[in-house]
Amino acid sequence: DELGLDESVIMEALRGMLPREKEVSERGAVVQKKAIPLFQDDKVIGALAIVRDITDIRQKGRVIKIKEITLQEIHHRIKNNLQAVSSLLRMQARRARNEEAKEVLSKAINRISIIATVHDLLAKGKGEYVDFSHILKQVLEMMKDENKEVSFELRGRGFSIPADDMISLTLVITELVQNATEHAFIGRQEGKVLIDFHDDSQMAWVEVRDDGVGLPPGFGLHSGESLGFQIVRTLVEEELGGYIRIRSDRRGTSVKIYLPTFNESHREKKDKEEKKEINEKAQSSSSGR
Ligand SMILES: Nc1ncnc2c1ncn2[C@@H]1O[C@H](COP(=O)(O)OP(=O)(O)OP(=O)(O)O)[C@@H](O)[C@H]1O
Ligand SMILES: [Mg+2]
Repeated sequence: DELGLDESVIMEALRGMLPREKEVSERGAVVQKKAIPLFQDDKVIGALAIVRDITDIRQKGRVIKIKEITLQEIHHRIKNNLQAVSSLLRMQARRARNEEAKEVLSKAINRISIIATVHDLLAKGKGEYVDFSHILKQVLEMMKDENKEVSFELRGRGFSIPADDMISLTLVITELVQNATEHAFIGRQEGKVLIDFHDDSQMAWVEVRDDGVGLPPGFGLHSGESLGFQIVRTLVEEELGGYIRIRSDRRGTSVKIYLPTFNESHREKKDKEEKKEINEKAQSSSSGR
């Protein structure tokens, strides 16, 4: 017993002629006890007993579980908070006297609900990377305008991007899709919006293209004080580290967002190269002294 040998496991293995296993925790340690019967000519002649300290394995498992539960709890609270913000704004929108205030508030509510949706989808998924088109599809579903026949087409499947970037990227795309549905199909009942995504391990891009009336003459990314393009610009340039190109004529508008590649293996390679470079620099500067 000093060694942690457990006779009952051995006896059971001998009697049942089958391997037996038992996990016991004593004084903060977890020990796994195994007994395997040994045979000679169909007769049990003894048993092999294995005692293994698995405290570490079990503890690590518990830590991971606690982390998972905590994360889920945080997600849950963020979701509740976003809902609280939404309903506060909704209350204010109901009280607003003029139409402009109502509209501004309802746009804010829409933006928050998109963040909440993506957040919820991210919380359900596991891991650092998420399926871009899977999330975008569900967000686009929310954006359908009942008064217009606008079709959304999502190309570029099977891309996974870091969960960290997903909310920013979704907000950018939804602003652009919203613009297309709101401004591109003036005087028309139908229109097409295409969302295309590419990542070729050097660079990634997302394009939102419509076949609408085109941007107003003289309109630029920096002109006007409207919020939509400002959100797009800020998120792309400052959050995602990319840049924007707009093309527009009477046959429609295309907004293309260029981003650093999301390709995992390429990023790792680049990280390694950067580390190597830093190491080399450090070495050459220390040997130079
Ligand atoms: N796809 C498009 N087709 C035609 N015009 C567009 C398109 N996207 C934007 N515009 C024009 O550019 C202007 C600026 O867009 P922006 O998203 O910055 O503001 P908004 O949509 O008017 O307001 P907000 O986005 O803050 O609700 C729009 O008012 C519209 O005139
Ligand atoms: Mg807009």
